[in-house]
Amino acid sequence: MKVLGIMGSPRVGGNSDVLLGQALEGAKAAGADVKKIILARKEIAGCRDCKKCNKTGICALKDDMAEIQEQILEAGAVIHSVPVYFWTMTSQMKAYLERWCVFFDAEWKWQKAYYPKMKGKRIGLITVCGDPDPHTADPIVHSFRMTAEMTRLNWLGCVMASATDKGEIAGNEAALSEAFDLGKKAAAPVS
Ligand SMILES: Cc1cc2nc3c(=O)[nH]c(=O)nc-3n(C[C@H](O)[C@H](O)[C@H](O)COP(=O)(O)O)c2cc1C
Repeated sequence: MKVLGIMGSPRVGGNSDVLLGQALEGAKAAGADVKKIILARKEIAGCRDCKKCNKTGICALKDDMAEIQEQILEAGAVIHSVPVYFWTMTSQMKAYLERWCVFFDAEWKWQKAYYPKMKGKRIGLITVCGDPDPHTADPIVHSFRMTAEMTRLNWLGCVMASATDKGEIAGNEAALSEAFDLGKKAAAPVS
């Protein structure tokens, strides 16, 4: 089983990165092969709604999302990690998520070509916000949960934490342990 980590903060080594690292350690401990993609180091434009992919399953935009799409298809689970920017996800994560359009037809059903690999794929989320109330990230959770629900992906749950300074979350044992457990769950054998 391969577990893919998608890091949506432009602050590499920051709180989202630390927690995603923990989740991937948890997945490794459970026997998974892991890979992390840092979105800020990739070229990913937002969806233009040209609808070409509805028919072809191929995005008209030629950038790094094609290679990420391949990684998603190959993974058994995908764990996303992102901080709150202005009460929502970062622009990097939003552009990436919009590009999931490529997986769907005009009725928002899986493209036949992708369905065998996307069916039942596990999806998880980690959020970090500066606000002491981690539920400041609820709009991000809503966005990922609804995507999972619409497509019947297997929702692994989310870890929601608060921190401000770069790497501060490394002192939050509870958040680290929750992230590790999320990764373990992502890699657990199907029962
Ligand atoms: C542009 C920007 C906007 C932010 N907006 C919010 C916000 O709306 N609510 C909040 O709680 N924290 C906000 N924050 C704080 C970050 O969520 C917080 O510092 C977080 O720990 C950053 O995670 P990272 O280290 O993974 O980048 C913002 C930070 C930046 C840079």
